[in-house]
Amino acid sequence: MTKPDPRILSPYEKNHLRKYDISEETALQTEKPVEYLTHHVDFCGLDFYVDESVLIPRIETEELVVLAVQTAQKIFDKTKRKLEIIDVGTGSGAITSCVSKKLLELQVPFRITATEISPEALQVAKKNVKKLVPKAEVQFVESNLLEGITQKFDLIIANLPYIPTERIAFLDKSVKDFEPRVALDGGKSGLTLIHTMIDQAKNVVYPHSKILLEVDYTHGYDEFNPVRADWNIVVTPDSNVGVHFVELQKK
Ligand SMILES: C[S@@+](CC[C@H](N)C(=O)[O-])C[C@H]1O[C@@H](n2cnc3c(N)ncnc32)[C@H](O)[C@@H]1O
Repeated sequence: MTKPDPRILSPYEKNHLRKYDISEETALQTEKPVEYLTHHVDFCGLDFYVDESVLIPRIETEELVVLAVQTAQKIFDKTKRKLEIIDVGTGSGAITSCVSKKLLELQVPFRITATEISPEALQVAKKNVKKLVPKAEVQFVESNLLEGITQKFDLIIANLPYIPTERIAFLDKSVKDFEPRVALDGGKSGLTLIHTMIDQAKNVVYPHSKILLEVDYTHGYDEFNPVRADWNIVVTPDSNVGVHFVELQKK
């Protein structure tokens, strides 16, 4: 049996450990992401608590937050009423917290419903939202996608699992062995949950509502053929073409 290569800490990892007073020796004994050792991660300038029940929020998702805030502002300019927003699969509450912070600053009135299938993740989201945006109106719902949700929303934001199942085995060890499988595995094509959610969304949108999604870089316009009969769809890459963002509006 060959011995695994020793872990080499990146400058980011070293700084991160130093900042939260965790020794490099501790980190070298495991392949755990350093954020799970320190329980801290910076996302959109906010300091989130994370543990192994939640995905560590990724930098590309900060662009989804920017897009969501711009979209929310446009919808508010049109409707002039309190926005109802839903963050499906909130995880650590990263998107909910950052969108809330920005909309509070912009004085756009809103309420966010943050949903999760994982009760442990929902507890982490509650903890982060309470600490980071105590003034935001956020309700937390444990649910499978939009099942049981009956109210309508102006904006649906979802960064659901989108990695095709077969690719999970090839991910970095720090991801596949430590981040929750339920946060990564998007089924055969990566779009299983996403297509189900889009189908359910028909019942919870107004004609002006938008859905914003983060998906895999392999998911282009054609992968949304199954839902094209009902929705206008725009797919755009993020600035590093690491992921795609999808905007849908009901036809
Ligand atoms: C890729 S992670 C994203 C987490 C967070 N939104 C973010 O951007 O960092 C996907 C999240 O969706 C949740 N999830 C998976 N399947 C779900 C389902 N059927 N219904 C609701 N949430 C689900 C996972 O538990 C996980 O927290």
